[in-house]
Order: sequence, then structure tokens, then C-alpha cells
Amino acid sequence: MKTFILLCSVLLIVNAKNIDLSSSENVLWTFMNKNNTVGGNAKVPGGVYSDLHANGFIGDILSEDNDVRTRWVAYDSWSYTAKFHVSRDDLTARVIHLVFEGLDTAAFITLNQDEPIGAVDNMFVRYVYDIKDKLREGENELKVSFLSPVAAANMRSSKFFAAPTCVPSVYNGECHVNQLRKMQASFSWDWGPAFPSVGIWKPVYIELYNGAIIRSVTTHTNKVGTDWKLDIKVYLETSQKITQIAGVLSAALQVEGKQILKTWTHVNASSEADGTLVADISLNISENQIRLWWPNGYGEQPLYELNVLLTPDQHQDEPSHKTLKVGFRTLQLIESDASQIFANETAGKGLTFYFKINGYPLFMKGSNWIPSHILPELGESQKDVVDALLISATDAHMSMLRVWGGGVYESDHFYEKCDQLGILIWQDFLFACAMYPTDSAFISTVQEEIEQNVLRLQHHPSIAVWAGNNENEVALRGNWYDTRPSFDKYKADYIKLYVDTIKPIVEDLDPARRYLVSSPSNGLESEKEGYIAMNPYDPHYGDTHYYNYLADNWNMLTYPKTRFASEYGFQSLPTLKTMKTAAKNEEDFSLESEYSRHRQHSPNGYSFIRTQMESHLKLDEKDPKYFEKFIFYSQISQAMAIKAETEVYRQDQANWYTMGALYWQLNDVWQAPSWSSIEYGGNWKMLHYFAMSFFAPVLVSPRLLPSDDIDVYLLNDRFVPIIGETITVDFYNWSSAAPIATKQYSANAEPLSSNLQKDIKINFSDYKKEEVFVKFSLQAAGIKSPPNYVFPVPLKSAVGLRKPNLQITVASSVMSRPNEQFEYSVNIRVDTVVLFLWMETDVKGYFEENGIVVTEPRSVVRFISGKYVAPQALQNSIKIQYYVN
Ligand SMILES: *[C@@H]1O[C@H](CO)[C@@H](O)[C@H](O)[C@H]1NC(C)=O
Ligand SMILES: *[C@@H]1O[C@H](CO)[C@@H](O)[C@H](O)[C@H]1NC(C)=O
Ligand SMILES: *[C@@H]1O[C@H](CO)[C@@H](O)[C@H](O)[C@H]1NC(C)=O
Ligand SMILES: *[C@@H]1O[C@H](CO)[C@@H](O)[C@H](O)[C@H]1NC(C)=O
Ligand SMILES: *[C@@H]1O[C@H](CO)[C@@H](O)[C@H](O)[C@H]1NC(C)=O
Ligand SMILES: *[C@@H]1O[C@H](CO)[C@@H](O)[C@H](O)[C@H]1NC(C)=O
Repeated sequence: MKTFILLCSVLLIVNAKNIDLSSSENVLWTFMNKNNTVGGNAKVPGGVYSDLHANGFIGDILSEDNDVRTRWVAYDSWSYTAKFHVSRDDLTARVIHLVFEGLDTAAFITLNQDEPIGAVDNMFVRYVYDIKDKLREGENELKVSFLSPVAAANMRSSKFFAAPTCVPSVYNGECHVNQLRKMQASFSWDWGPAFPSVGIWKPVYIELYNGAIIRSVTTHTNKVGTDWKLDIKVYLETSQKITQIAGVLSAALQVEGKQILKTWTHVNASSEADGTLVADISLNISENQIRLWWPNGYGEQPLYELNVLLTPDQHQDEPSHKTLKVGFRTLQLIESDASQIFANETAGKGLTFYFKINGYPLFMKGSNWIPSHILPELGESQKDVVDALLISATDAHMSMLRVWGGGVYESDHFYEKCDQLGILIWQDFLFACAMYPTDSAFISTVQEEIEQNVLRLQHHPSIAVWAGNNENEVALRGNWYDTRPSFDKYKADYIKLYVDTIKPIVEDLDPARRYLVSSPSNGLESEKEGYIAMNPYDPHYGDTHYYNYLADNWNMLTYPKTRFASEYGFQSLPTLKTMKTAAKNEEDFSLESEYSRHRQHSPNGYSFIRTQMESHLKLDEKDPKYFEKFIFYSQISQAMAIKAETEVYRQDQANWYTMGALYWQLNDVWQAPSWSSIEYGGNWKMLHYFAMSFFAPVLVSPRLLPSDDIDVYLLNDRFVPIIGETITVDFYNWSSAAPIATKQYSANAEPLSSNLQKDIKINFSDYKKEEVFVKFSLQAAGIKSPPNYVFPVPLKSAVGLRKPNLQITVASSVMSRPNEQFEYSVNIRVDTVVLFLWMETDVKGYFEENGIVVTEPRSVVRFISGKYVAPQALQNSIKIQYYVN
């Protein structure tokens, strides 16, 4: 009876009391530099660049060269001070802990006139201090004094140097970020500026309680026959000494049909010396009580609410509860002998590398995620920015994002959104492009970091795999940082950090997920070869990163095979519209401007973009619109190259060779040339529109061979086959908006596969290659599949491509959708083929397609807006660009 009441009162129960120390009416935070000349009111959680901006000391940090102009901020040291009140009643709690969810990065903490509380040095760790003896009734003063992160990194480097010496000078960055457990990109990257931030970037509060609290919960879903077992591990905490924890621990899971499954157990045990105790509880769930969780594009994402409650035996002690969402799916990373699998003649030697989800091998389509803002506090708090990026990813049929090792462990909100959207996460640990020190202080803070973050994130069904670092295995093997003379030392350090320190923690807390030591790596083969493989880019094993800016990147045959492409990409420039949010002067808008030089971190400047562009597109330097066209063409070039590379990887799903394509990179932190498909501010580049097509679940994907024959693949990422539908092949003349010849073939494809259509034999022997191109489309009931193209010669050599007569009108009919959006039909009329028609408008909203190859005299593109605008006004606002020789 007692238990029944406890379980029913879940929703009425309040956790232990917290005194929130975020800035508010009751908690006043101020900040000040070392010599007391710069300071003001502060916002906590926050950071010093945000506070300096809010107080008018610095302008927009992303404008012009403000990254360098504001660098004094990173060299100074800053203290944050809070005044707050505590009542006599509060002080009676048995446990009084001061909790910092995140401090960036090296700081000393004092309470009430310089009473030391602690020193911190890891922005990814939650710090908890017992302040029972230090807190006073009435006013208290908390002070956090941050060291300059640049100075802190230098200081450590003089003792514990680890290569590289510094980032390339064109980055305008700072050195030795590998010495700090701080977002590695905050000292600059090839796609981003240096903003070596400091601040209280996550919540700070005081926890008051008498019994124990639930700090973390991990969930382990195991399929047993046709049913599921949910093993729940509850991480309890109390005062930081050995303490008896006694109470009823209960779990309630709401399954289908609003049914609630409940279980409970009695806990009575003494905690560890640090006040922690782990308790287990489990639930049996029958197969028909839940539905499976699937990645985006393969099914739904049902999530089930789990409530975990600790009700102490001592009635005066307060209960503690935690709520989280559980998804049921199985996921394995399969690394098995490739020669043993079906169709092994082409799968070749080595090991497979694919994700098997709910029993099905699924090709992973996606991209790489960098922090959503260069200031970590804004990456954490700007949820709308995160949401828009993740929704853009699903709009483009992505099922996986790799959270790259130079950023941060993202916010709870980020992973919850991925759970809801079905975006699987390849989660790197936060070590990137460097060797790392392994002194005892470093190792011990890393242990804490890994443990806390795995416990925080483990329950998310979206997390697919952990990886120890970004590119550090290949950097050491490839001598990127002149490490060869000390290879053995760095190899020993590598093993100490990623194998001896991190691996056992991850495997203990999260035994069902694969921990890959590095990304890229050869997976099991790297492990067999002593963790630094002879060739970490071996195409027969694991994942690879591939960049080549010199070859013909529109040619599919350029790309070497891979089991799983976890990075590949090309730079392009952001649109003028986005650039104008950072640059105001007309003279900035030229490739030679100081601004353009400053934003391009490639030591080769714009030459790689130019080389790629010029091998396919014609652009005259004397063109009065040269810069505008250079931007536009760079986006065409990037989109076409990544399209070719992605499709070749998808085609190689035939015989299970390649099973993933995650291009570099989804998003941007500033307005600069970069590999992103979405510009800073959220504007989609042409690449992102192309991704909607090249990642489409069903796609006719041609491959032009050196013989001028075309192999045609039918890609089918669905659970059902395509049988006897129709593929239409249209030959077009560049100068007419109607096909000059049409052929039709029967289309057939197995489920979840890439299928070479052996009956389709196409070449250009009837035509002059310069005058024609081919369009492929699928006609199949109930399947939407975008058209695809082969351009047999570089477009700059196309004969007949001419300036179109082009008319764009916006129909007056406006339809309001259930989500209160307005939909406009943008009608396009042409008299010839138009390549990469690009439409832009200042009206807030978006075109559903862009960068279009227009082959019909009349077509319609929808424009969606949250606000009503007169159709004529929209029509007048549309600016267009297209490619013509
Ligand atoms: C005080 O600090 C500011 C900001 O870092 C600096 O510009 C200024 O030169 C310093 N003044 C003195 C007297 O050191
Ligand atoms: C809990 O354990 C302690 C020490 O082992 C014991 O004295 C106490 O009776 C136990 N309480 C319950 C309710 O089992
Ligand atoms: C769950 O099922 C297993 C058998 O599969 C059984 O041993 C166990 O007692 C069940 N647990 C609960 C809480 O019903
Ligand atoms: C392919 O698999 C078959 C059957 O398992 C086996 O007999 C054959 O040797 C394999 N071929 C290769 C190239 O490994
Ligand atoms: C080109 O394709 C046609 C069929 O469309 C075929 O008859 C011809 O032999 C092919 N020519 C070459 C050179 O492959
Ligand atoms: C294609 O266009 C060219 C002009 O660029 C023309 O000479 C040729 O006759 C056209 N071919 C067909 C089949 O329409």
C-alpha cells in the first residue's frame, strides 16, 4: 500500500531545494578585469565577450576583424562576483553544495571574502563543492576569478609541451589549446576565428537537502527474445563522505496506450567516500507495449517517459526524482570479415563497417556538426539556432551527424532534439588535431569529464557511437606536427589517454555502444595494429576523411573507396547577403580585400576554390560582377563536387562496400569561406539544396565512365523493393527547353541497396558531347524522386548554352497551412535550359528548391513564409542568378 501511494505521487514531488545563482533580481553578478578598468553588470550563465558587448565595450565580435581587435580580452583576466541572500532556514539543510555546471575554463573560486572553495581547469566538468561551513545567513559573496586562457595554456605548455607548436599564422589564432580542457576551436580553426572565452557558461546553483539526490540515470535497453528489458542505473549523491542511503527507489515508464509500467526496490547501503552510490532497478517490457525508434527516413521516433524516484526512509528527508525519455532500438556497428558476406567479390578484403539498426544495415547519410556559436554560452542558450540547424539536417534526409571533437559536448536540448528528429549522433570526445599531454592532473580531470558526460548523455537513443578523438591517430602516423623524432613518446601518450584512460570508463558506463579510439581509424584493425595503424586511411577498414582540392572533383572516378566516409568536403564563399552582416564597406567585397584575406584561413588563400571552379566554369576576371559571380560559382562548384562524391559513396553501397557519407561540414560560426552547407545566420548554400536531392531516399544516380558510357544506379533506402517501375532518360540540347530524345527503361531495386541497372546502356555516340546533356528521372507510384543529370563535358565547354528569356511571377493565390505559414507559387518560364537558377529575396522565408537545373518551359517552386506579403512584392523582391558561359 505504501509503495502504491509513493508511485502515484510522482508528479507532486519537489526535488531538493535549489538556490539558483543565475543573474536575476535576487542575484546580482558583476564582472571586472584585472586592473579594475573594465567591467559592469554580468549575465550568468554567460561569458566575457557577451558581457563586454552588452556593456558597450566591444562591438559585434563577428564583424570585420574584431576577432583580432578584441584579443586583449583573452589576454586579460576576469573576475565574476555575485551577491545573494540565504535564509536561516536554508542553512539547516544537512547537505549544502555549490554546483557549477560549467566554468570556462581555468579559475579560482572563493566565497565570502576570499575563503577559497576550489580551483578548476576543465570547462566540460561539473564542479560540486561542500559549502555548508562557509555559507552565511544573510548576504553572501561568491567570486570566480578566471585566468587568461591564453596565459594558462602557455603556462602548462612550458611544462607539458605537446605538439603542435601553434596553429598556422593565417588563422590569427592562439597556441597550445591542447593544454586546456576547453573547446579546442576557441583558439581558432581553419573555418573559424579565435575567441578564447572565459565565463560561467552553464548554470550555477546551491543544492540544499538532507537525504540523497539522484544525479544521473543511465538506461540500458536489451532485447530479450521478442521482449525488452530496461536496466536502469541510478547514480545517487549525498554529502561528500560515507553516508547510509536508505529509501525506496521506484521507476515508472509510460508505454503505449498511456499504460504505466512500474517497479520499485528498497535501497539501503552506505555510499562511497565521496558520497556516491549506484543503485539498479529494471523493468520488463513486452514487445507490443512499445514501438521501435528509427533514424530519420526509416521510421518514427517514439519516445517513452521514464520517471525515477527516490523516496527516503527518513520522512523528513526530501524525495528526489528525474525524468527522461527512452527510445527502444538496437544498434550495432558491424566490423566483420568482408569476404564472408554476401556478394563478397566486390566487398573485398578487410572488415565491414556499417550500422545495423533494429536488425537492418542502414546507410548513414549526414554531415559534421561544429559548435552552433563560437561563444560556448550562446551555443548552449540559443535553442532556436540549434533547432533550425537540426531541422535543416532532416529536411535534407540526414540520419546522422558527427559531433566533431574540436567543439563541445552539446546541450541536453541538442540531444533531446536529435532523439525527436531521428538524427543519430557520432560523438567524438573533445580532442582534435593535436597531441595531448598526459600528466597526472590532465589525466584525472579527463577521467572526470568522460565519466560525467557519458552519464549525462548515455540514455539518448540518438547516440550511436563514441570516438576518442578527431584525426589524432592519422596525425601521428602521418607526422602532421613534426612528431616523428618523438613518435614512441607520443604513441605511448596516445595509448595512455584514449586507450588506458577513456576506453575503460566508456565501456564500463555504456557497455552496449562501440568506443572507437579515433576518427578516422581502421576500427578493430587499428586496435590490432597497436592503435596507430600503418595506414589509418586504409579503404578496407573503418572510416576515412578524404580531401583533395587538386583533382577534378566533379568526376566521380576521382574518389577512392571507403567503408564509411566520415568527412569530405570543399570550401565555398557565403552569399553577399550573409557577408554583409559582417562587412560594411564596398571595398571589402573583393577577393583581394583585407577582409577577404582575413576571413580565409587556408594558407593557399582562394586558389583551391579557383582551381576547382575554373576546371568547369568560365569566369572572366574583368567581369564587372566578378566577386558576386565568384561567390556564386564557388557555391556551384562545392555543391557539384560534394554531390558527385556523395553519390559515388551511395552507389558503392552495392555489395555493402560503403555504408556512410557524412560530408564536412553542416554549419558555420562566422561569415567566411568554409566547407559548410549552411551559412552563419541560417541561410542555405546551394550545397544544402543539393543535399535534399543527393540524399533523397530514392534516387536515379548515374556514373559517367571514362569510356563515355554511363552506368545507372537506382538507390533505394527503403524497406520495400522497387519492381518494374520506369526510369526515363532524356537527352537535352543546351539550347532548347524540351528533350531531343527520350528513352525509357524498367526500374528495379532491392530494398536498402544500390542497384546497377544493367539494362540501361547509354552513350553519346549519336551526338556531339558538347551540345547535349542527359536527365534521369524515376516514374513510380507513390515515390518522389528528384531528377538527376550527367553533363558530359565541363560546362565551360558546353555549346549552345545561352542567356535565357526568363520570367518569374508569383501567383496571387496564398494558402495558409496548419502551421500558419503562407505558401506562394513562384512560376518560372524559360525558353531554353537554365543552369543552377538561384533565387534570393529579402522577404523572410525560404524557397523549397534552389540552384535548379531548369529543363521545362514552365515550372513552379514554392516559397514558404511565416508572414503574409503581397505576391507582387515578393515577385519584385526576387533576385536571380544562373550560370551561362
Ligand atoms: C588595464 O587593462 C586594460 C584592458 O586589458 C588595458 O587596456 C589597460 O592598458 C590596463 N591599464 C593599465 C594601467 O595597466
Ligand atoms: C539498513 O541498513 C542498516 C545497516 O546495515 C541497518 O541497521 C538498518 O536496519 C537497515 N534498514 C532497513 C530498513 O533495512
Ligand atoms: C523480468 O523477466 C525476467 C525473465 O526474462 C525475470 O527473471 C525477471 O524477474 C523479470 N523482472 C521483473 C521486474 O518482472
Ligand atoms: C565468398 O564467399 C563464398 C561463400 O562463403 C566463399 O566460398 C568464397 O571463397 C568467398 N570469396 C572470397 C573472394 O572471399
Ligand atoms: C552506344 O549506345 C547504342 C545504344 O544506345 C549502341 O547501339 C552503341 O553500340 C553504343 N556505342 C558504343 C560506342 O558503345
Ligand atoms: C542542338 O543545338 C545545336 C546548336 O547549339 C544545333 O546545331 C543542333 O542542330 C541541335 N541538335 C538537335 C538534335 O536539336
